[in-house]
Amino acid sequence: MKLRPIESFMFKLGVNIDHIATIREARYCGRGFGEPSPVEAARICEAAGAHGITAHLREDRRHIQDRDILELREKIGTRLNLEMANAPEIIANALKLRPAIVCIVPENRMEVTTEGGLDVVSAEKSLTETRRKMNDAGIEVSLFIAPDEKQIEAAARTGSQFIELHTGQFAEEFQAVSSRCDDWTAQRAIPAESKELHRLISGAKQAHALGLKVNAGHGLNYENLPALFRVPHLVELNIGHSIVSRAVFVGLEKAVHEMLALMKDYRG
Ligand code: PXP
Repeated sequence: MKLRPIESFMFKLGVNIDHIATIREARYCGRGFGEPSPVEAARICEAAGAHGITAHLREDRRHIQDRDILELREKIGTRLNLEMANAPEIIANALKLRPAIVCIVPENRMEVTTEGGLDVVSAEKSLTETRRKMNDAGIEVSLFIAPDEKQIEAAARTGSQFIELHTGQFAEEFQAVSSRCDDWTAQRAIPAESKELHRLISGAKQAHALGLKVNAGHGLNYENLPALFRVPHLVELNIGHSIVSRAVFVGLEKAVHEMLALMKDYRG
């Protein structure tokens, strides 16, 4: 297998700071102020080496608020990746705020977190229109999808620059294996056991061949990440819950450092 030389690409970490806002909203919901500050968190992540900040402005505004996005847009020094539904109100907001990139995700009011990937096949026309509006405003577009051949083909037809492969199912499978053994054994067992890992590998290859850049995210943590490294062509990971959870015990700076240290082992 030919390895990409490590200096020829940078494997990037985007830290999803939604759950900093979740903690604030648990106490100050609807008040327009309160701690902890997502912007302060973003700055700590950037100082620790994160390459970008990801935030999801949900239609139900359950964590990140409009004012957070405005402030993040003004104050962060890296790239803001705005996760959003393909919905008119949020599209209008994004066009006003102009983040570096938007990641379009499906949204379901009752879900605890983003559950599945986008159905690009069914919504190809409207996603292509949104992609065009964003690109015309200088905003790159990523589509959050499952590693499904038809969805990847449709994503390429929309003209999007990126896809983000949904790693939620992979994380579930890893969890199931590690509940039977320890995390270290699971890291070695999962490549053979996980159908989803193999779907991610072929999805990444297919997307790369179609000219799409490939990100990945959802459910990634310090235990399952090394097992994901068999997936080629990854440009950026978007990770939130595990980093914010770890930060409770070791601080955000150290939590980001630890994730970046793990990512050094990725060979592309
Ligand atoms: N990427 C996307 C598109 C997401 O919707 C989420 C969850 O908001 C993440 C990444 C981060 O997932 P997690 O919080 O499980 O790391």
